[in-house]
Amino acid sequence: EKGGFDHFMMKEIYEQPKAIRDTLASRVKGNIVDLSQEIGLTLEQIQNIEKIHFVACGTAYHAGLVGKYVLEDLARIPVECDVASEYRYRNPIITDRTLVVVVSQSGETADTLAALREAQKHGARVMAITNVVGSSVAREADDVITTWAGPEIAVASTKAYTSQLIAIYLLGLYFAQAKGYKSAEELQGIVTDLLTLPEKVEEVLKQEKTVEAFARSIAKHNNLFFLGRGLDYAVALEGSLKLKEISYIHSEAYAAGELKHGTLALIEDNIPVIALATQQSVFEKTVSNIQEVKARGAYVLGLAVEGDTGLIKSVDEVITIPQVSDLFAPVLAVVPLQLLAYYACVERGYDVDKPRNLAKSVTVE
Ligand code: F6R
Repeated sequence: EKGGFDHFMMKEIYEQPKAIRDTLASRVKGNIVDLSQEIGLTLEQIQNIEKIHFVACGTAYHAGLVGKYVLEDLARIPVECDVASEYRYRNPIITDRTLVVVVSQSGETADTLAALREAQKHGARVMAITNVVGSSVAREADDVITTWAGPEIAVASTKAYTSQLIAIYLLGLYFAQAKGYKSAEELQGIVTDLLTLPEKVEEVLKQEKTVEAFARSIAKHNNLFFLGRGLDYAVALEGSLKLKEISYIHSEAYAAGELKHGTLALIEDNIPVIALATQQSVFEKTVSNIQEVKARGAYVLGLAVEGDTGLIKSVDEVITIPQVSDLFAPVLAVVPLQLLAYYACVERGYDVDKPRNLAKSVTVE
């Protein structure tokens, strides 16, 4: 049942290229994204969307954070992103021109479902991105984009997250086509790039041994940091959650530019820092933040795009991902972080697939 892997989590990490392919399939025709089969919104309704709220929990919330960048960048619609357990208690401003996108692997998370109902009560249209056809969230939402990741057994979410990112990119591109801020050629170029992600994830998986060695070397630590800017920060949050969840090592994800506003005080000799530097638009800035922690003795694993030699002299170890646009880098960057959490957990001797105190589906508040 684990397909030759020791744990479901590793099996699911390796299923990501397929999950991504299946989530893309039938939605991209030529170089055009077509979601008209699953989304009932007319062209005019899309053009009338005033704002989008992404609402979700945990890993799905981290996908929503990527969604904020993607929808704002591609479709130029203002986006807010909330944790479901906060959203429904904070009296958010929802109108009939608000699109609420709930993201949920299981489609059964109590807070997410309650947020969906709250949003509908206020007249919003609710779209669900979910991995379970016929789940509560899927049944109650007005529109559904299904992620085709297949059943996810390990408590720590991996392939569901990357598939959620794909669904979000498809949505961003579909709306972008309707809004017309970018030219058709430009959008088609972006779609072409999107289609290369499955094979690029396969490339990243080949670096498993390097990640394993780093994970084993840091497994004795009780504290570490993830740093990144822009989309790398969103991925850093997910990497940090994954590590905490299964290895029980405390970690914090920080927007790299925010370090000197307090957190730098915690950087001391040998503290492991995982520094994401995949975003070309802020690459130099990120490298200078990495140098700040390096100068204070941190032991740094850098994550960069192939060919970015500028990073190598500022870090102790490096993992590269294939060349990719900033927008799509999260799909590749998260993979080494999943592997890192996995091997840190194995090294510390904990149960990978069933971490303590956690349930796969949180159906209570
Ligand atoms: C972390 C994890 C959780 C879930 C969260 C939401 O690895 O799996 O943080 O992402 O409980 O679950 P869904 O997506 O089923 O609503």
